[in-house]
Amino acid sequence: MKDRVDTGGAEYKINLLAPFMHVDPYPTYKKLRQYHSICPLEQEGMLAISRYDDIVSILKQPDIFSSTDLAAAFETEWMPEAANPEEYILALEDKPEHTYHRRLVSKDFAYTAVAAERAAMYRVAEKAVAALKSHHSLDFFDGVACPYAEQIINHFFGVDPEDQFANLRDWRQLVEMPPSEPDPACLKKIEQYSEEGTAYFKQLILSRHNKPVGDFVSRLLGADPGDKVLTTAQKAALIELIFSAGLMPVAQLLSHAILRLSQEPLLVDQLKKSPENITLFTDELLRYDSPTHILPRRNLLPVTVSGVHIPESTTIYLLLGSANRDHGHFDCADTFDIFRPNNNTHLSLGYGMHRCLGERLLKSQVAIFLEVLLHRFSGISCPPRDQLKWFYQMTSYSFRKLPVIFH
Ligand code: HEM
Repeated sequence: MKDRVDTGGAEYKINLLAPFMHVDPYPTYKKLRQYHSICPLEQEGMLAISRYDDIVSILKQPDIFSSTDLAAAFETEWMPEAANPEEYILALEDKPEHTYHRRLVSKDFAYTAVAAERAAMYRVAEKAVAALKSHHSLDFFDGVACPYAEQIINHFFGVDPEDQFANLRDWRQLVEMPPSEPDPACLKKIEQYSEEGTAYFKQLILSRHNKPVGDFVSRLLGADPGDKVLTTAQKAALIELIFSAGLMPVAQLLSHAILRLSQEPLLVDQLKKSPENITLFTDELLRYDSPTHILPRRNLLPVTVSGVHIPESTTIYLLLGSANRDHGHFDCADTFDIFRPNNNTHLSLGYGMHRCLGERLLKSQVAIFLEVLLHRFSGISCPPRDQLKWFYQMTSYSFRKLPVIFH
């Protein structure tokens, strides 16, 4: 007989893709933490875990709660072959491969490497802010946040902004990949963008191989120690992972920052006067309203979490967005407070061996953009969040458009 998830007799099941979970998931998270902290999903063999301490305890045990074993969970029957990566690397690896591959790239995200990008970030931010007209409405997400994140990641990778793929516009559309089988036209587009993306990254590798230019890709190619040479497919997967990780989540976080500031005019005044507090603001924003709400894992062994038995090979969704509002860990968790003492213990950048590699890069990007923006503008107006159009994806918590007026 198939092992069943023991939910303590409760029949409650959660649909993480329900529209209300995107616009305002927090009341549901609260209910989950209180009554169903280990809760089955509507889909068979999947669970959601919502309490801070349970999630940290799981992320501390990567040998049991695997990332590798998840790769298959992302592949669907209808997904075109080209959209499934040839290789899964780093984020979807366990030890020892993960340790080896992380070591290969971690120097590029260290303090000095990111500090070297700051002058370029200021240049890009100043140009973007100079182009904004006072009292004019625009879509901040598409018109400002995405191009800003694109230009920074392009610079980091040494990609020529004139390159036909450099604007990554097609990639953005892939982010909207539907959770269930789309129509044939959409499938065709997914296939086309996937093929173009993979071909682009392979071509980038080839061109840097022939002519290294001292950028991230050239360094990665030179970093292979003899017996552990990465295949071209692995290099392409690594570059693709970092490229995409550095794009949408950053644009989404910047958009969340603008929305929050539009809701808290006093905070705008405060940060204008003391820009050094923007770093505190960014951490509190990541805690309060992060673009990443869910991390998946799969357990390689049967386990018990908070007294609930979980059979082997269950796909477990860790609800980071819920952990970040857990009153058991954060006092007055539903209040936005940049001075809360433990706001950098949020889980929005993960925890443990897979913790976000781009942390320094993303925090510098956000801080520099906001500093430049608030130097010029004193007011930000956006519509209320329930009037915004949201992405309907399980792992991304963000809106597609953010109408804004700066003044
Ligand atoms: C707001 C922006 C970002 C958010 C919310 C975010 C969130 C996360 C989270 C939650 C993880 C942990 C994944 C896991 O445990 O399975 C992660 C890992 C990772 N992030 Fe980020 N990230 C952001 C920006 C970036 C940037 C700018 C880069 C690089 C350009 C980056 C590169 C990575 C990489 C390479 C990993 C995999 C690390 C590993 O598996 O060892 N991220 N990120």
